[in-house]
Amino acid sequence: MKYIISGTNRPGSRTLAVSRIIQGIWATLGERVEIIDLCDVELGNVTGSEYGSENLPPKMRSAIDKVNSADGLIVVCPEYNGSMPGALKYFIDFWKYPLTFESRPIALVGLGGRFGGLRPVEHLQGVFGYRNAYIFPIRVFLTDIFTGLKDGELQDPRLSALLEAQAGGFQKFARALRSEKLDANSMAKPG
Ligand SMILES: Cc1cc2nc3c(=O)[nH]c(=O)nc-3n(C[C@H](O)[C@H](O)[C@H](O)COP(=O)(O)O)c2cc1C
Repeated sequence: MKYIISGTNRPGSRTLAVSRIIQGIWATLGERVEIIDLCDVELGNVTGSEYGSENLPPKMRSAIDKVNSADGLIVVCPEYNGSMPGALKYFIDFWKYPLTFESRPIALVGLGGRFGGLRPVEHLQGVFGYRNAYIFPIRVFLTDIFTGLKDGELQDPRLSALLEAQAGGFQKFARALRSEKLDANSMAKPG
């Protein structure tokens, strides 16, 4: 299964609304995709002494187990102070290398003001590129999100079309990697 990571723990975030839109697009592609909402992960229950630990608090453990099993991840990331939210980086820092990252297909969606989350997405490319994930090259930037999202819907059909094109392309990208056994889940299994 693919998972959408809603990249902030801010209650009522636009990031979660965008994640739901993306989930709907995947339903039209015939794939059930689940959202990992950082509001539900209880990041406050983990401590710095638990980096790399298997014995994480249950909600954190369950979220990371989902990521570890994902045949694709769609990371939806808002811009906070010119980068990704600390909550998202904190979550990622509890992942295991190479298991969680290496060869895992990842698609990136940014949202924010004028630049549509360009900076956090590029920072995430640095993180996932360093950790040898397969980053899908087509990224989506949702600009002017304050006015661009109303009642859970994107107002500009061109942005919706970009999300649809990304999802369709990413579905093929992940499938192609799997068919050659190059993706994380195939690499984890012998044969
Ligand atoms: C702590 C914080 C910092 C932010 N910094 C930026 C920023 O540097 N650039 C920007 O375009 N938007 C910034 N924003 C606005 C968010 O991109 C905007 O709130 C958007 O709705 C996505 O975040 P959300 O998922 O929390 O709603 C910031 C928002 C917060 C809460």
